[in-house]
Amino acid sequence: MNEEMRRYFTPPDLKAAKKRGKEKISVLEFDPIPDEMKEIGNGRKYLIKTYGCQMNVHDSETIAGILEQMGYGPAESEEESDLILINTCAIRENAEDKVFGEIGRLKTLKTEKPELVLGMCGCMSQEESVVNRILQKHQHVDLIFGTHNIHRLPHLLKEALMSKEMVVEVWSKEGDIVENLPKVREDGLKAWVNIMYGCDKFCTYCIVPYTRGKERSRRPEDVLNEVRQLARKGYREVTLLGQNVNAYGKDFTDRNYRFGDLMDDIRKIGIPRVRFTTSHPRDFDDHLIEVLAKRGNLVEHIHLPAQSGNNEILKIMARKYTRERFLELVDKIKKAIPDVVLTTDIIVGYPGETEEQFEDTLSLMREVEFDSAFTFIYSPREGTPAARMKDDVPHEVKKERLHRLNRLQDEISRKKNEALRGQVVEVLVEGESKKDPDILSGRTRTNKVVNFRGPKHLIGEFAHVRITEPRTWTLNGEWVEEADLRQVGG
Ligand code: SAH
Ligand code: SF4
Ligand code: F3S
Repeated sequence: MNEEMRRYFTPPDLKAAKKRGKEKISVLEFDPIPDEMKEIGNGRKYLIKTYGCQMNVHDSETIAGILEQMGYGPAESEEESDLILINTCAIRENAEDKVFGEIGRLKTLKTEKPELVLGMCGCMSQEESVVNRILQKHQHVDLIFGTHNIHRLPHLLKEALMSKEMVVEVWSKEGDIVENLPKVREDGLKAWVNIMYGCDKFCTYCIVPYTRGKERSRRPEDVLNEVRQLARKGYREVTLLGQNVNAYGKDFTDRNYRFGDLMDDIRKIGIPRVRFTTSHPRDFDDHLIEVLAKRGNLVEHIHLPAQSGNNEILKIMARKYTRERFLELVDKIKKAIPDVVLTTDIIVGYPGETEEQFEDTLSLMREVEFDSAFTFIYSPREGTPAARMKDDVPHEVKKERLHRLNRLQDEISRKKNEALRGQVVEVLVEGESKKDPDILSGRTRTNKVVNFRGPKHLIGEFAHVRITEPRTWTLNGEWVEEADLRQVGG
């Protein structure tokens, strides 16, 4: 890496990151695209390949928004693309492997079509080792930019089109909050809305606090205006996004306004469904529970990552809660919202995890009965404290634990879904089922997928469906017409 690039870049470093300042974050407006850049994309097509979490999916919508303002149009295939951007995820090694595979594969296309611009952005770009590897082994990449400088894309793209060298701009320090970024939303029914950026939790296994910078909350008025606009445009559902939404507002110096307050205000907006992800159990306060219990458009689904059911493991993960505290919180939530659906994330095979410690996770799963869970084998991330912990658990053992955990979760999921047999649920109909165009598919308020036979005009609408065949991951049912529903008294 030459000096010019280094200017933009520092490797993930826990000590340095934890020292990150309390300087005030400014809120800037996205600069209108300069005239000389508005036509760069005329007659050109772009393709964005997105990996990772909803945050990345939403960033891709912003990138698409910027590109379309520059005159680019969406491409249907790699072959017809003039610009391919890979928006990457660094959360686990296999996520990174996929991206390197993809970059390697695209070399052929780039050789056949040298004018193609191939770029990489997202969380992997924030890692020095990744950028070095690309510089050394993948010289066919034209552009790398990070998660903090998406708004700089017009300038970077212009440079990449003119330069023969790889253009690399990665800010290791988060910038300010940029409002009014253009967006091309993928879906006309459901929208993602950022409420905050970054994460200050520093769980010892996790790369996100380094790739996404410190916590910065968007101003409530900006979030509320965005949700109001979406409601006006006919969106049926918004999902509020943050790595740790329960920390929303902690960084405000000019007001005392937290996530519970935000939810209480969003509750008053005429949008039928509001979700959020992800909440950290540590900051989940009573006020938020109280607000969620008012329901209305606030759905009764909470994704609450537990990670482990063992106190020693939770401690070395730096999750800052105990099993008991977690269970207490679950209890409180279930009391306030009796039909709540809880889902979770679990990591198995943490460095040194013993069989007994793993069994504590199994027993937590049995005790809470989550409706579903995302389960992962621990993956060491360079620069994080856990990557330096001694790990004597063989990979085969980790795989076997994951398998046992998944079997248990499947059993619980099936049981939970079975309880819905015969019930009528409200479904937001999203479209035809992928497997069979005669079947419609949508989701309940609790985010469960429901498949049923019904007329196509229901797409984009709410329908009532009686569950006739619950399965482990999905529910099959029959459409209940409004007239019948009144007869049942539903
Ligand atoms: N901010 C979210 C998590 C985002 S990452 C939260 O705190 O809930 C999504 C999930 O990936 C995490 O909940 C965790 O279960 C998993 N994960 C994160 N880092 C990991 C690692 N190094 N190895 C395996 N799984 C990991
Ligand atoms: Fe990672 Fe923990 Fe932050 Fe979630 S809360 S993004 S797991 S550091
Ligand atoms: Fe991956 Fe970055 Fe999201 S590491 S999970 S894309 S915040």
